[in-house]
Amino acid sequence: MRQNIVAGNWKMNLTRSQAMDLVQELLHAHPALSGHQQVILCPPFPYLERIAELTAALPGFHVGAQNCHQEASGAFTGEVSASMLASVGVRYVILGHSERREYYSESPKLLARKTKEALKEGLIPIFCCGEPLEIREAGTQNAFVEQQLKESLYDLDEASFGRIVLAYEPIWAIGTGLTASPEQAQDMHAFIRSSITARYGSNLANNCSILYGGSCKASNARELMSQPDVDGGLIGGASLKASEFLAIIAALNAA
Ligand code: PGA
Repeated sequence: MRQNIVAGNWKMNLTRSQAMDLVQELLHAHPALSGHQQVILCPPFPYLERIAELTAALPGFHVGAQNCHQEASGAFTGEVSASMLASVGVRYVILGHSERREYYSESPKLLARKTKEALKEGLIPIFCCGEPLEIREAGTQNAFVEQQLKESLYDLDEASFGRIVLAYEPIWAIGTGLTASPEQAQDMHAFIRSSITARYGSNLANNCSILYGGSCKASNARELMSQPDVDGGLIGGASLKASEFLAIIAALNAA
């Protein structure tokens, strides 16, 4: 059975004390999750270990990093490896986010290497895909997104692909306040699932969690996440406020 997931991508936000306040508010609310639901907090690197410790007692709560390096170790000043993340209790890692692709020139090939390294160390990649506005306007978003999956993921074997979580994040909806309509999200998610079916078969496709991201917030989360192929959300801005994020978690239950 595929997992329903709400992941909070904090990006480069919050000081340590703000981060701890946010986590305490989430812990205090203690949202109850069923066995197939998960909440993943993806704070900046310095807070990962502490937040992993704090959330360990909360069933269904996990911690994810926002990036990792493609090599196991070595002379890569300023970088963090997948094994380091795993060693401090991190379970997930966001890869392929459009901000990393754009601002740090992360190529599909590099992302394929990062994905393999993360999997090797037991991390679960939350692999992001999604088209820019001009591609959406040209109506070629399906081919664009499928190409992203092909270039970075489709040479994984079945067992490896079976561990990936996908996040569809149309770039025109990230941080803009513009959200994909529930129909647009559903159409793309169904297309992604059909593409996975063609590559890996329907069993793997049906078990793959595909999250929607891009201006998802308390007021639209329920409608988005109740679409049959939308298995949760990757939440940026709205994950920084406990009340908003808790409402999105509650929407997962209601969807
Ligand atoms: P947003 O970001 O929710 O602020 O649009 C989503 C993301 O970039 O993961």
